[in-house]
Amino acid sequence: MTSNLSGIVVIANLWILVVGGQSKNWSGYYVDNGTHYLLYEGPRIKPQTFLPGNISTNPAINALEAQDYLPTRIVNGKKIKCSRAPYQCALHYNNYFICGCVILNRRWILTAQHCKIGNPGRYTVRAGSTQQRRGGQLRHVQKTVCHPNYSEYTMKNDLCMMKLKTPLNVGRCVQKVKLPSTRTKRFPKCYLASGWGLTSANAQNVQRYLRGVIVCKVSRAKCQQDYRGTGIKIYKQMICAKRKNRDTCSGDSGGPLVHNGVLYGITSFGIGCASAKYPGVYVNVLQYTRWIKKVAKKY
Ligand SMILES: *[C@@H]1O[C@H](CO)[C@@H](O)[C@H](O)[C@H]1NC(C)=O
Ligand SMILES: *[C@@H]1O[C@H](CO)[C@@H](O)[C@H](O)[C@H]1NC(C)=O
Ligand SMILES: *[C@@H]1O[C@H](CO)[C@@H](O)[C@H](O)[C@H]1NC(C)=O
Ligand SMILES: *[C@@H]1O[C@H](CO)[C@@H](O)[C@H](O)[C@H]1NC(C)=O
Repeated sequence: MTSNLSGIVVIANLWILVVGGQSKNWSGYYVDNGTHYLLYEGPRIKPQTFLPGNISTNPAINALEAQDYLPTRIVNGKKIKCSRAPYQCALHYNNYFICGCVILNRRWILTAQHCKIGNPGRYTVRAGSTQQRRGGQLRHVQKTVCHPNYSEYTMKNDLCMMKLKTPLNVGRCVQKVKLPSTRTKRFPKCYLASGWGLTSANAQNVQRYLRGVIVCKVSRAKCQQDYRGTGIKIYKQMICAKRKNRDTCSGDSGGPLVHNGVLYGITSFGIGCASAKYPGVYVNVLQYTRWIKKVAKKY
């Protein structure tokens, strides 16, 4: 539980890619001051997540998430330009970065429901910048509409929509994502997952830039098999994708899983760099296109 939002200490035992492609384990913690991760070497203390409390009431999901050390489930990954993921936005609560989000249109963004921790008035959204704390366009949130059937235990329906007080200005780095066609039969083989994370771990002060990673589809049957014994169920409302290498990991919670400008997934839960065994689990957006359109029309 983190009550003091200015200078949150997150404990990490991260897999770090050092220049030259060799990996080593780094044990320590970082303090996130909003624009930089201040890294400190030190003993590994009890893991803490950024989101207050646990993301789920399911101990198995928390145990996995705890290994991700939110808010970054990414160490390294590749820095990308804003034009590569112009639909990406950053969600802040009380001025504190909390999750990734996706631009649906000028007034609406989509994120994970486990990122909804308080009143709409405390949220802001930044779009059009590779830095979640600087540049681009900043908007206040007017209203949140969350999926009514979200389960904190199964993580099913982990989606919220947020309406912005003033519309975004569309530009090279601010564009809406496309929703998958309801006629979609086959999912793409691979996707781009994006979010904010560490880009280098050698520096003491690591600036937070948008980065992306290619992850590839894991069938539901295979994914369920990978999660066998954890008590986690993979529903058809979820899709799974895996990192190509162990040195890159998927995007932040609430962030996009996209192929050719089409949004297939929203990062929900899963394990970070520490394990190659468990695929990342994403909300299967295809199952929610009707809900999304209905909400955008109704509110
Ligand atoms: C890093 O940590 C992993 C998992 O804890 C372990 O399997 C691996 O041997 C460690 N590697 C090094 C170089 O210490
Ligand atoms: C965070 O720390 C870095 C490095 O010390 C500093 O340059 C930056 O201004 C700090 N950011 C804020 C918002 O205080
Ligand atoms: C979070 O979940 C873990 C595992 O289920 C549990 O041990 C811990 O008490 C929970 N923490 C909070 C703040 O609910
Ligand atoms: C939520 O579940 C109820 C009961 O199963 C169902 O009637 C309703 O349509 C669901 N809502 C959405 C938005 O899917």
